[in-house]
Amino acid sequence: MKRVIISVCILMGLIFPIFLDAQDVPETIKIYNKGYRRKLYKPVEFPHLAHIDDYGFECTECHHNYKNGKNVWKEGDPVRRCMVCHSPTKRRGKVHRLMFAYHLNCKRCHREAESGPIKCSECHKKIH
Ligand code: HEC
Ligand code: HEC
Ligand code: HEC
Ligand code: HEC
Repeated sequence: MKRVIISVCILMGLIFPIFLDAQDVPETIKIYNKGYRRKLYKPVEFPHLAHIDDYGFECTECHHNYKNGKNVWKEGDPVRRCMVCHSPTKRRGKVHRLMFAYHLNCKRCHREAESGPIKCSECHKKIH
């Protein structure tokens, strides 16, 4: 019996790292970052998986890693939070402040697609 338990433990140890490597693709995300000078709104509900499965967009419409001005991010690479590179308070050269990074990404596409929310109140609910 002991030997079975030990073997199972070793097997789990070998299998789990494989699963932990791949990041799960979240279905819905409540986008809520700290670090803004002022925080006016509740978390923004973002139907992540619908944008991929139902509306058919590629990951690279939204996820990127620029090298020499080219997006070299490909599926399987780790996904970093937008905030890792886009500061909530400062623009750094071409790298927009965090709020503009989201607004540019979300609203530009909704405008082009003539579908999806554009008005503030469609994405934002006031905290107070
Ligand atoms: C398509 C959805 C969308 C629309 C439309 C939109 N926003 Fe946002 N906005 C976001 C997201 C996502 C964030 C990032 C939230 C965070 O980081 O917590 C954000 C962040 C913000 C923030 C900073 C965070 C905070 O809670 O204070 C402000 C201010 C803001 N938006 C104002 C506006 C205003 C004003 C409009 C209309 C002119 C607008 N937004 C329209 C998605 C949207
Ligand atoms: C329409 C835009 C869009 C598309 C398309 C998209 N994503 Fe995302 N994804 C986001 C946003 C926005 C976040 C939240 C990041 C943040 O707020 O910092 C996110 C978060 C994630 C996260 C979680 C990261 C974390 O640490 O919380 C993973 C994993 C992810 N995406 C994988 C994918 C994969 C894989 C694809 C393609 C199959 C994809 N995404 C397509 C916009 C998108
Ligand atoms: C690894 C760092 C990094 C991460 C993570 C990152 N960005 Fe960026 N982003 C950049 C850099 C660098 C640029 C400037 C690229 C250039 O013009 O050379 C940029 C540019 C942009 C632009 C303007 C370029 C364009 O596509 O029009 C938008 C919008 C944007 N990012 C949104 C986002 C969003 C939304 C997220 C999270 C889902 C995100 N970024 C995550 C580094 C990052
Ligand atoms: C590359 C294009 C693209 C980007 C980037 C994008 N969207 Fe969308 N989004 C769409 C389209 C197209 C629709 C409408 C699909 C439909 O109604 O058939 C949509 C619909 C939505 C809806 C409405 C869903 C519903 O059930 O009615 C929400 C909410 C939304 N988007 C939030 C966001 C937020 C927040 C971001 C930025 C973090 C974002 N989107 C970025 C293309 C995009």
